[in-house]
Amino acid sequence: MAFYYSFLFVLYCSLLMLCSLATGSIILTNTLHERFEKWVFEHGKNYSGPEERQYRLEVFTNNVNFIEKFNREKKYGYNLSINHFADLTNEEFVAKRGGVTTSALALRPSSELDTASLPPSVDWRTKGAVTAIKDQGSCGSCWAFAAVAALEGIVKIKTGELKSLSEQELVDCVTANEGCSGGWSDKAFEFIISNGGIASEAEYPYNGTQSKCRANIINQNDITSIRGYGTLPRKNESMLMAAVAQQPVVVYIDSSSSNFQFYSGDGIYDGPCGVKLDHAVTIVGYGENRGEKYWIVKNSWGKTWGDNGYIYLAKDVEKKSGMCGLAIHGYYPII
Ligand SMILES: *[C@@H]1O[C@H](CO)[C@@H](O)[C@H](O)[C@H]1NC(C)=O
Ligand SMILES: *[C@@H]1O[C@H](CO)[C@@H](O)[C@H](O)[C@H]1NC(C)=O
Ligand SMILES: *[C@@H]1O[C@H](CO)[C@@H](O)[C@H](O)[C@H]1NC(C)=O
Ligand SMILES: *[C@@H]1O[C@H](CO)[C@@H](O)[C@H](O)[C@H]1NC(C)=O
Repeated sequence: MAFYYSFLFVLYCSLLMLCSLATGSIILTNTLHERFEKWVFEHGKNYSGPEERQYRLEVFTNNVNFIEKFNREKKYGYNLSINHFADLTNEEFVAKRGGVTTSALALRPSSELDTASLPPSVDWRTKGAVTAIKDQGSCGSCWAFAAVAALEGIVKIKTGELKSLSEQELVDCVTANEGCSGGWSDKAFEFIISNGGIASEAEYPYNGTQSKCRANIINQNDITSIRGYGTLPRKNESMLMAAVAQQPVVVYIDSSSSNFQFYSGDGIYDGPCGVKLDHAVTIVGYGENRGEKYWIVKNSWGKTWGDNGYIYLAKDVEKKSGMCGLAIHGYYPII
């Protein structure tokens, strides 16, 4: 893990220098200081020294104030919580999470989807087609996690077998992408097609850094081979609904707001949100609660983020691009 930590250290240091000019004096109450220490202990945080610790305390304080004000005001239909991102500024959070760069997206026609007589709700988790929430760590590999979750889903639907599959293989071996520096899930599907499938999580486990492609173990699961992938038409939530009724689907979203960073469930996320797509996630269902429609979205930031790792995004919104731009790009693997 030496490389992993030194990378983090460099990132923190440069940010420290950038931010030291901007941080004014903040009066801290004992209780916030105590809460910070408790939070540091609970999350096993390890800072490089007293200066960084002091800086992280200031960031933590700003975030706690933001979160508590938001929850008090009750302007939105969901809550925020002090999760494991609480010592990151929003800029750091945006830089370290996600991993989608949307400049070179492949466009392919989608296969036939039937939008007639769709079920009012679908939850692939209850059908055993969704593995446990995973954590990409400080690696911009969301594109791999989103593609793998969609693949795990269709493999279960077609073969009856739910198997946790390897994101690390994609991070290491998809040369069209940039490993931990970002990529596209459709490029991952292209690799899976040409490779004839991918290894299981157990065979090729995740360690959150890009390494040499381990060619000796990359081709062990015939059941995971796909013959193609469908691309959804842009800005059409009813087509997305038809696809999700059929299987879990990869979408790209804008996850950059502080509200997204600290979303804790207790309701449907209905903004604020832009459409600067920077993150890939997998939609594993949809539903409706007291007239409010939502998408069930599997994220890859661990179970302590969001609603046990999930976020419920508003569905069929006025904006054609969908909540956080989710209806702009959608992909689903075809077996
Ligand atoms: C990650 O795994 C690869 C082998 O797949 C290994 O070469 C590399 O050293 C590991 N990195 C870390 C940080 O453990
Ligand atoms: C924290 O960092 C120090 C110095 O880098 C290291 O010696 C120590 O083992 C780390 N502790 C944990 C829990 O990672
Ligand atoms: C979505 O796509 C379907 C099928 O192409 C089309 O019938 C429908 O009008 C589209 N809806 C919107 C809002 O573009
Ligand atoms: C959201 O947070 C507020 C303030 O802490 C709390 O009163 C409210 O019950 C929470 N909402 C839900 C749905 O838990």
